[in-house]
Amino acid sequence: MPASGLRLLLAIAINLSGVFTVLATPSAAPDNTVVINSATSYCMIMPRTLHTNIGDSEHPGGMQSCCSSAAQTDPSQCSLPDNFWRDVDYRTGTGSGKYVQLTGCIRPETLNRLNPKDSGGQYDSSGGAGGRGNPAGSVCKGYNHYVELVEPAGPRACIRCCENTSDCPLNKDTAGCPQVIPGNYFNCG
Ligand SMILES: *[C@@H]1O[C@H](CO)[C@@H](O)[C@H](O)[C@H]1NC(C)=O
Repeated sequence: MPASGLRLLLAIAINLSGVFTVLATPSAAPDNTVVINSATSYCMIMPRTLHTNIGDSEHPGGMQSCCSSAAQTDPSQCSLPDNFWRDVDYRTGTGSGKYVQLTGCIRPETLNRLNPKDSGGQYDSSGGAGGRGNPAGSVCKGYNHYVELVEPAGPRACIRCCENTSDCPLNKDTAGCPQVIPGNYFNCG
């Protein structure tokens, strides 16, 4: 191949790597990744062990991504029963950036990792020790940030993935789902 052809290929490769840098969102292992595709296709962080309060799961190795059957891509993920939500609202929007969310009422008794009497807690991509997230290094597929609250006693849950961290606030973790992620909570709001 003539040197000019090689230079052209090199130039194309360098330009492509630039494009990928701009488009890339953070990635993580499947069991450390949340996903919101639709009201029936999603992955959420849950405790890794049985009958565990959300707060007690927040230690290294204590959490795992669990998926609806439509979203499961890897055996390292646990399964969420397809009747996990009693009522769920899928919504996309634009705040300081694009976001996507699920809000609603859950059936905590369908997932034996939960303690139905637990008032709940928060998982996220940017809080926890050193701002690395809880679980550390966790991400939402296709977005820069996420925040998730699971409130078994509610019985309520919510998750939002955001382009801009200001749409996924982390400083209201004891205020409950409707304050952190405004949306439709049906009759468990
Ligand atoms: C995120 O939103 C804030 C508040 O609207 C804005 O000041 C900031 O520039 C945004 N950041 C990015 C990376 O777009």
